[in-house]
Parts: sequence; C-alpha cells; structure tokens
Amino acid sequence: MSFQDKIQSAALRNQTRTVLALDLEDPDASQLVKRSREVLARVKDCICAVKVNRQLVLGLGLQRVADSILKPASDLSLPTIMDAKLNDVGHTNEFMARTYFDAGFDAVIASPTAGWKNGLDSVFETARSRNRGVLLLTYMSNPGAETFYALTAKEEDGAEKPVFEIMTRLALEWGAQGVVVGATKPHIISRVRQLVGPIMPIYSPGVGAQGGKPSEAVEAGATYLIVGRTIYAAPDPRAAALSIRTPPNPLGV
Ligand code: XMP
Repeated sequence: MSFQDKIQSAALRNQTRTVLALDLEDPDASQLVKRSREVLARVKDCICAVKVNRQLVLGLGLQRVADSILKPASDLSLPTIMDAKLNDVGHTNEFMARTYFDAGFDAVIASPTAGWKNGLDSVFETARSRNRGVLLLTYMSNPGAETFYALTAKEEDGAEKPVFEIMTRLALEWGAQGVVVGATKPHIISRVRQLVGPIMPIYSPGVGAQGGKPSEAVEAGATYLIVGRTIYAAPDPRAAALSIRTPPNPLGV
C-alpha cells in the first residue's frame, strides 16, 4: 500500500485529518520513549499518521525510534513521516532518505530549495523504488517564512511568480505525494489548492500553538493538519486531539 493510501485509509477509519507531531524532549531516553508511547496510546484512534522530528531521532537514535515508535504505529495501521526537511546534495540526500525508509518511515519531508539535479532527484528515486512518499515544503508556518517564501522570482520563461508558487509547480512536476503549507496562512493554502487541484494532499502544520485554526485551514483547502504541542503538551492529550478532530470528506480526504 502506498503512503497516500495508508494515510487516507487511517483518516477515513478514525474520521480525522490530524497528523500527530511527536516532538517530545527528555534528556532521559527511557522517559522519552515512555512519554511518547503514552501520548500515542492515548490518541491512536483520533489521528491518521505520526510525524517524527529530530527531537526523537537525536534523543533516541534511529533504531530505538524504529522499535519504540515506528513499529507500534505500524501495528496500529498509522503511517509515519520523518520531518527531515532534506535539503542537501544528491548522495547525502540519498543516504538520509534510504536510511529513514529502511528504518520504517513511510514518507519524508524535503525542501525543494535543493533543486532536482543532484539534489532531490535521489530522494524521489529512493522513495519511488520503495513505494514511499515525499512531501515538499511549500510555505512554512513560522512568521519568518515570509522572508523567503513570499519573494518573487523569475521562472525560466521569464514570468515572475511568488517563490511558493514555483515550489508548488515543482511539487507537481516531481511527483510529490503532498505539499506542506502553514495553517497560519489560510490565503496561501487557498492559492496552493487552486494550483494543485483537488487531489494533491496539503499538509498544514501550525495549528494551535502557532495560532493556526483547524477550521480555517480546512476551509482554505488543507487535507491534513499537523499538530504537536497542542496535543502532547496538553494535560489530557486525548481530549485535546478530540477537540481539534476534523472529519475528512466522505468521498475522499
Ligand atoms: P506544533 O507544536 O507547533 O508543531 O504543533 C508543529 C510541527 O510541525 C513542524 N512544522 C513544520 N514542518 N513545515 C514543516 O515541514 C513547516 O512549515 C512547519 N512548521 C512546523 C514542526 O517541526 C513541528 O513538528
């Protein structure tokens, strides 16, 4: 089953668009595993995927992440995403993508700024050969993202466009399984939705702690909402996850 099919099936099964960002930190690795697993156990039926960041990989090491997070998530039929924001030259990107996929991740996040040739070409090829997904950053959720993503640049044909529109075009051309657009910027989500059409999933981080509103992001065209602190730092992570649960459309996600 492809990453896209896995997440869509989990979203429909659990009637949610929420991707849990499991960004817990703890200097004690055993505590980090325990706390992460507790959060996952509490919200397992109100999320559709688990996103892992460097907090867990650097805190636990990749093998322990694989054993203690990826395996249990897979047993719950929840796909996993490595938020690697890959952005290096080809052979290094290839090593990272291959290592994350071999550890069990279903998808990686990459940054299109590396370009295709000897940049992200190796990431897409590695993903394709293993039937895994690549999600591309298109407009980040933090306020400072404007500095780069809102710039205007010239396309090869001389047309001037906002950088995020060029990123969106590249995501379509390169065969990404989704684009990442901050929930903090519903007007950008709307524009990206116009450009990608109804099928390509839009992943929106920045709900809650960063100020994004789930309903506004979904109305603007977001398919999935990536949520971290609002869930895992809440006194009751399950209640928090339920409070932002947004059901997918019955005919798709
Ligand atoms: P919070 O705690 O703010 O965490 O809900 C958000 C999660 O999403 C990640 N994040 C992003 N990832 N593009 C990404 O690919 C973004 O623009 C972006 N903004 C936030 C963040 O690393 C955390 O895991």
